This record gives sequence, structure tokens and C-alpha cells, in this order.
Amino acid sequence: MTVDGVTVTSPLISVRDMRVTYGDRLVSHVPELDVYEGECVALVGESGSGKTSALLAILGLGDFSGATVTGTVLINGVNVVDAPQAQLRRVHGTAITLVSQSPQAALNPTMRLGRLAKLSLKQHGVRGHEANVRIADALARVVLPDEILKRYPHEVSGGQAQRFCIALAVALQVQCIAADEPTSALDVTVQAEILRLLDELRRERNMAMVLVSHDLALVSTLADRIVVMKDGAVVEVGSRDEVLHSPKSDYTRELLAAVPVLGVTS
Ligand SMILES: Nc1ncnc2c1ncn2[C@@H]1O[C@H](COP(=O)(O)OP(=O)(O)OP(=O)(O)O)[C@@H](O)[C@H]1O
Ligand SMILES: [Mg+2]
Repeated sequence: MTVDGVTVTSPLISVRDMRVTYGDRLVSHVPELDVYEGECVALVGESGSGKTSALLAILGLGDFSGATVTGTVLINGVNVVDAPQAQLRRVHGTAITLVSQSPQAALNPTMRLGRLAKLSLKQHGVRGHEANVRIADALARVVLPDEILKRYPHEVSGGQAQRFCIALAVALQVQCIAADEPTSALDVTVQAEILRLLDELRRERNMAMVLVSHDLALVSTLADRIVVMKDGAVVEVGSRDEVLHSPKSDYTRELLAAVPVLGVTS
């Protein structure tokens, strides 16, 4: 869309007044959040602040954890908060996909990775030669050998499972990766590798990313925008530089003060 000669893109994800409750307890409220192509938005905050609840609700997966979600989350125009399952399945794997904190647990343990990859692509209408080419390219992209396709999820390491999940997202050509603490289970070297990979994909393919992390040092290297959460509420939203270098809320200052490497205290 062009307005006064300027190209205005519509957001890939548009969240409005999203509330996540367990029983009558409100655990996460995001009044407004837009995520654009190629943008990395990070949700940060202490443990229990509602980050994962918010991320799952953004994916339309709140029901699966027993939460009640209200409000609107438009992904490519589909409101995933109340979308029928069939529509939700189409959104997952085309528009957005989750790279979870425990990737091995997210993969069906009874299937070899090759079968799993083929099934995922088949669900989105990609079969045969095209599927094989996309899988081979994606594995090369995340630097995994083809022979990994013969293995079961329990036969690969945590870092390999995470890279495989990212490869699936690449093969499916999703527009956005949603990642919950993507590196917390990994050792420091593998962490750096996964982060570099996510960042490269974002630049090369204009992939958007919604990243949940309590690791501000990590967030400072990846995020364009940062949402700070506390007790289920958004206390601050701003560009990375605004939030890291001129935080508005006392809570953000406290979080930053706890990360010596960032050295921001006032
Ligand atoms: N399935 C559930 N049933 C009931 N309460 C839940 C459930 N999942 C999460 N909660 C509660 O919701 C609140 C927010 O949890 P959430 O997992 O979103 O936090 P988080 O910010 O992701 O924390 P962490 O950094 O520890 O992962 C917490 O108080 C948690 O106990
Ligand atoms: Mg969490």
C-alpha cells in the first residue's frame, strides 16, 4: 500500500488488547503490539511475568495450555485467537512457527526426522522432488548433515534438534519464527551459533522474529524492539536503544542493572 508516495507495509502480526487468563487470574495482557516483516521483537521480564503465556497466545496456542485468551491477534489477517483448527494449522507453518525451549520434546519421538520433515511440508502442499530439495537446502543452511534425517529425535543433541526445528521453518518458508528462550538449554558456543543463524535468516529472508528471553545480553544483540513485562503487564515498549539506553520504567532499569555487561544503571 502506498500513502503520499511512501510505501506502508501492514504488520505481519497485529495484537490488540490480548488477555491471557488461567481461571480468573490474568497472567498476561498486551494492549498493542505490531510485528513487521524482518523485525525482531523481544519479550523480556522476570520469571512468571507472562512471556510464554503471551507468546503461545500470539501463536493461537493458548487453549492448549488451558488458558483463556481474549482480544485480537491478526496474523496475515486471520484472528488466531478464535480461528478454527484447520485455519490455525494453515497459519502455522506458513506465516509463523514455534521454535520451543525444548525442541526434542516438540518433535514426535516415534518418527525419524526425515519423515517428520516430509510430513510437515506435505501438510502445506509441498511434496516429492520440491520437498526433497527444500529439505536438503534447509539442512545445508543450518549446517546439519543429510544423514540426520535417518535419526529419531532422541538420537540428536539439543543444539541439533533446535537447528532441525529452524531448518523446518526455513523449508516451510515461514514469515515469522516465534522462539521461546531459544538458547537456554544450550551451551555457550552452540547458543552463539543458533543466534547467528537466526540473525542471518532474518537478514537474508526478511523473516520476522518474536523472541522470548530473560537474557538481556542476548536480546541486545538481536532485537529491534523490546517489550518489557512484569506481573502480566507490559511496563515498557520501545526500540532496542530506547529500552536499553534510556529506559522509562524503574523496573526496566532494575533489569538492566542486573546485567553488568550492558552497564546501564540510570
Ligand atoms: N498451564 C498453566 N496453568 C496455570 N497457571 C499457569 C500455567 N502456565 C503458566 N501459568 C502461570 O502464569 C504466569 C505466567 O507464566 P509464564 O509461563 O507466561 O511466565 P514466563 O514469563 O514465561 O516465565 P519464565 O521466564 O519462568 O518462563 C505464572 O504465574 C505461571 O505460574
Ligand atoms: Mg516462559
